[in-house]
Amino acid sequence: MSAFIRHRRLRINEQIRSLVRENHVQLEDLVYPIFVMEGTDIRKEVPSMPGVFQYSLDRLHEEIDEVVQLGISSVLVFGVPLHKDERGSQADHNHGIVQEAIRYLKQQYPSLYVIADTCLCEYTSHGHCGIVENGEVLNDPSLERMVSTAVSQARAGADMIAPSNMMDGFVYAIRKGLDEAGFEQIPIMSYAVKYASGFYGPFRDAAHSTPEFGDRRSYQMDPANAREAMREAASDVAEGADLLIVKPGLAYLDIVRRVRERFDLPVVAYNVSGEYSMVKAAALNGWIDEKKIVMESMVSFKRAGADMIITYHAKDIARWLKKAN
Ligand code: PBG
Ligand code: ZN
Repeated sequence: MSAFIRHRRLRINEQIRSLVRENHVQLEDLVYPIFVMEGTDIRKEVPSMPGVFQYSLDRLHEEIDEVVQLGISSVLVFGVPLHKDERGSQADHNHGIVQEAIRYLKQQYPSLYVIADTCLCEYTSHGHCGIVENGEVLNDPSLERMVSTAVSQARAGADMIAPSNMMDGFVYAIRKGLDEAGFEQIPIMSYAVKYASGFYGPFRDAAHSTPEFGDRRSYQMDPANAREAMREAASDVAEGADLLIVKPGLAYLDIVRRVRERFDLPVVAYNVSGEYSMVKAAALNGWIDEKKIVMESMVSFKRAGADMIITYHAKDIARWLKKAN
């Protein structure tokens, strides 16, 4: 009998609760994704992502002024080009939309840490993340495109490269390409464990990257697999990744935990578009308490072992954290 044990002693008031609190959500841990569109005078809300806007370069300051003022230190940049073709030739163009956006951000906001998402799906006419031949996404020819895209982003001033196309060997190829181009100091944050997920739906509206045919299951992972995630992460570690992303986040917290325990690199949880949209939709209907649910989700990422969180909620969280202090 343990009548002496009273767990509630440590829950009796906020002072003691905060003294014993195990995990904390800090603004420093958050990365905010942004969508930059080719064109002018664009500020367009993504219909499936209330509160998230696509901007053209000439209006991007409206977003970034706010981001910086809120104390968010890092953004993940996605480019949405006007012209798409088979090989995604705008992806590695020196004056492509993402390169221009990176250049602009680093010039206007030198203290902002700019992470480039490196993939081809926003740039290819078929919407796949690599080179397609006879309906198949080819691995090695896609690597060359990824390397030159990463190098062009580094040349534009990106602080970090985040390759997301899930081709085998992409971290090694990009590491080698960056080093040969003189960018050995630029870290690679690999989308190491990326599932073929329905939770990316709203993002594909935002980035105009829905595949024209088929799906991504020949390169992204099967949601049913956890041991395979360890193999994916292990190869990226061996290839020289500096940080490991697990994506999506909330439905895959077991994977975040396993990656945290098995590897000693920083672990990054990507709280993806579908997760964001579900919360927003319910909040806009008045069905849930948005702040409570978002903050609880964030602390769950931390509890699962994430060091960093990529989230579309970042600006809201910054406002809530500011109010609390
Ligand atoms: C592109 C990419 C995707 C996301 C990030 N980079 C979508 C996809 O693989 O289709 C998803 C982000 C999100 O849903 O928020 N490779
Ligand atoms: Zn892609």
